[in-house]
Amino acid sequence: MVAAAERARQIAGARRTSIKLTALQTEVDLGGITANTWSYGEVPGREIRIRRGDVLNVELRNQLQRPTSVHWHGLALRNDMDGVPDLTQSEIVPGGSFAYEFTAPDAGTYWFHPHSGVQLDRGLYAPLIVEDPEDGGNYDTELVVVLDDWLDGLGQTPDAVFDELRAKGMPNMDHGSMPAMPKSELLGGDAGDVVYPHMLANGKVWKAPQTFTTKPGQRIRLRLINAAADTAFRVGVPGVSMTVTHADGFPVVPAELDVVLLGMGERLDCVVTVPDRTVPVLALAEGRGSFAQVLLSTGVAASADSEALAVELAKLVVPEMNALRATDSVALPLREPDVTHDLVLEGPGDKYSWTINGKVYDPTEGLPVRSGQFVRLRMQNKSQMFHPMHVHGHTFQVRANGKTGPRRDTATVLPGRELIVDFDANNPGQWLTHCHNVYHGEAGMMTVLSYVE
Ligand code: C2O
Ligand code: CU
Repeated sequence: MVAAAERARQIAGARRTSIKLTALQTEVDLGGITANTWSYGEVPGREIRIRRGDVLNVELRNQLQRPTSVHWHGLALRNDMDGVPDLTQSEIVPGGSFAYEFTAPDAGTYWFHPHSGVQLDRGLYAPLIVEDPEDGGNYDTELVVVLDDWLDGLGQTPDAVFDELRAKGMPNMDHGSMPAMPKSELLGGDAGDVVYPHMLANGKVWKAPQTFTTKPGQRIRLRLINAAADTAFRVGVPGVSMTVTHADGFPVVPAELDVVLLGMGERLDCVVTVPDRTVPVLALAEGRGSFAQVLLSTGVAASADSEALAVELAKLVVPEMNALRATDSVALPLREPDVTHDLVLEGPGDKYSWTINGKVYDPTEGLPVRSGQFVRLRMQNKSQMFHPMHVHGHTFQVRANGKTGPRRDTATVLPGRELIVDFDANNPGQWLTHCHNVYHGEAGMMTVLSYVE
């Protein structure tokens, strides 16, 4: 079934791109701050760029001391290349390697990261851009901006943080000298479970930003990727409106917005026109009072310093991202589903457990679907924290308030709210479905959409 689905994706004359990727322990410069981390050589890892319909071949060599894996976030690829240990492949042991090879059927902004423990919160992530030959009409150049929350190798590790969360049981308890845990009105409650010393855009702290040289009037397609483990970002370019064109790689009816919100794992493509001065692309870590940035430099000074601009940006009203609308070319028509699965999201419980339908992750207990079915997931958030819910191998249709929302592979469910998403079961296999907060996922908030005969 998996091989047949792959054959159906293959197109005549497809190009084949071969890449060697090594996961290893490295020192990285975050902008005057050196961190000892695990990466694909640099942070973010080098972008992979292919075209829609291409075959991508990546040989991952594991030079870490721990097993790893690579998941190709958002792609509707063949299930046995999805990179989920114990579900779609065995872990890649230290010193071992694995050859991933698959067709990339849809254009868009994607990324990749391990699906092993909390390795995502190290430096193991990179963009995967799938170009559409028909794109480019509405912009002159593009800039990929990868956002991240950072703590690794600066006296902490994600594994130690996770152990501490489990030992404490609940994250948001007051521990005297411990810094206050983030809260956010926009996110309807807790903004995170972990305190981060730094926020990064393209691997740099805000004081040492990447500078992108441009000129007034140039139209830039920003490909925004939230690669953070525990942080949502509101992103804007002060004084410049953004035309949102794609959510999670799929086109939306263009929307003119001053500020957007990205949960973990989510991507948005926005076109901006460069003004006659230098402006930052500001990414505010929601509820945390910190930010990261990339500078769009015209050679003319910015109107104010970034800290002041960030204060202003924080005052703007952020529209509902689930109210973006898929274009007619990709929208899935509203109809009665063949099967509906409820996903009740709860936590944290005992030992910081996060659950779906009252259970922590068990790869053998999936939600059954059949090839050809139109499937509805009804996700209900009964916790105090937002959950960016991600479905592997499919791009679902968000139904926001009964309306047609965006096509996405990750969508944020706010506390106390319900989110309905529909998809065509057209990609057989065992597909992980989980919260993209890596600590929630690792603490149990994962399940499997399991194709059955
Ligand atoms: Cu980006 Cu299952 O993950
Ligand atoms: Cu979560």
